[in-house]
Amino acid sequence: MRILQVSAEIFPLLKTGGLADIAGALPIALMAQGQDARVLLPGFPAIVAGVRDLVPLAEFTAPWGDRFGLRVGHIAIDGAPPIPAYVIDAPALYDRPGNPYEETTRQPYNDNHRRFALLGWAAAQLAQGLDPDWQPEVVHAHDWHAALAPAYLAFARQAGRPHVGSVFTVHNLAYQGVFAPWHFAELGLPGPAFHMNGLEYHGQVSFMKGGLYFADRLTTVSPTYALEIQTPEQGVGLDGLLRQRSSVLSGILNAVDDQVWNPATDAALVQGYHTPEGRHMAGKARCKSVLQHQLGLAERPDAPLFIVVSRLTEQKGLHLVLGGIDALLAQGGQLALLGSGEAWLEEAFRQRAAAAPQSVSVTIGYDEALAHQLFGAGDVTLVPSLFEPCGLTQMYGLKYGSLPLVRRVGGLADTVVDSTLEDMASGEATGFVFDHFDDADYARALRRAFALYDRAPDWRRVRGNAMRRPADWGTAAAQYIDVYRQALG
Ligand code: ADP
Ligand code: GLC
Repeated sequence: MRILQVSAEIFPLLKTGGLADIAGALPIALMAQGQDARVLLPGFPAIVAGVRDLVPLAEFTAPWGDRFGLRVGHIAIDGAPPIPAYVIDAPALYDRPGNPYEETTRQPYNDNHRRFALLGWAAAQLAQGLDPDWQPEVVHAHDWHAALAPAYLAFARQAGRPHVGSVFTVHNLAYQGVFAPWHFAELGLPGPAFHMNGLEYHGQVSFMKGGLYFADRLTTVSPTYALEIQTPEQGVGLDGLLRQRSSVLSGILNAVDDQVWNPATDAALVQGYHTPEGRHMAGKARCKSVLQHQLGLAERPDAPLFIVVSRLTEQKGLHLVLGGIDALLAQGGQLALLGSGEAWLEEAFRQRAAAAPQSVSVTIGYDEALAHQLFGAGDVTLVPSLFEPCGLTQMYGLKYGSLPLVRRVGGLADTVVDSTLEDMASGEATGFVFDHFDDADYARALRRAFALYDRAPDWRRVRGNAMRRPADWGTAAAQYIDVYRQALG
């Protein structure tokens, strides 16, 4: 099958969160199963710089009349076949100093409707033959940035164009791409698209709703989140539409890219490790002592090291971590955090680190190598999210033997098994899970982590379960291929 993946980010070229990890791994996993996968990306500077052998392919006109180019090249990744990549050449829209979505002041760019309509539009042009040598049979759009692709394809089909299947994946329903209604006229969609049965959302234009309404098939990134978003509590205003479309909606759990996240081969670690049984875990102990030294933490092998690698936003529930720091320190733990985001959280964590530099380390910023080192060194990975579509850091924590402590929500509920006596006995326990989004329940989970840490043989057993938990892309890719077949009808 010829499959075009459409996303705003892709690891290793450009990443602000888990979307990039998935966008980078899925095409390779699809190719490994014999599929003909390509990607379409906006020409952000990091993407233009990172795609190899980029050459002009075609020009096309945006709905608002401007002309843009499309280039083609490939993304080269060690140990994987090159991923053919189309890149939209539009420096006026994409070559800017902030991140892909926001100015340096963290305000969304005021022309985001154009910047991302163009992504969906270019996908539809490719589906209609912009590249004479390759046309997708299925277009797979990720998140609101790419969500207009299914809408363009649906209206092209109504206008008599051949059927191209469309799949839309929600990585996070909280980010919807909602714009003032007067922008609708620039999007190149017919009037009827701006309707309750379409992109209209409380008088505004919602890209997310366009994807949810018009795609042939919908997926999201865990089975539990697929159910949660159909409820008023977690539907962020779109649960009605999601319930209406539930027969074409499925949850496909994200997987872990073994080429990138593997403690045995990870070049960012001072020493690799691989046998979870405990006999060959010397590498992990070394990772911990080196990192403690590097971060200025007391070099105490016996102190359980709790780590956080996260965007600092409301979603991630980090005020629970802040509120629990005293208890964590009182029980003899250390905390190392890497993250960036909301200013108040950055500042609050900085202050905690300044007050106890031997026990709390806070790195504000984005650092891929340090992220790997934290999973390598950590004993516990904290992910107490308010909501979590899938979550990747708990899966990296599992694989690196840094046991996840998570709230039972979304993909966290689907990937971590609490260390209860019965699940320890059955060999299923992999971490610590709490239910209520409050300080008391979080504190109890912390205490469970300390209690298990004090029982070294049990700890090693649970860590072994965690490290052995299968998380390869083969299963997820096969499920996506099934969904693509359904989208082709
Ligand atoms: P989300 O996509 O909601 O941010 P995920 O857990 O799915 O959450 O994915 C987060 C990804 O971003 C992981 O690969 C994680 O390692 C990475 N990450 C988050 N914050 C940082 C940071 N400050 N530095 C490096 N990597 C980070
Ligand atoms: C989103 C979600 C996260 C998920 C990631 C990749 O950013 O917040 O839970 O793991 O997408 O699907």
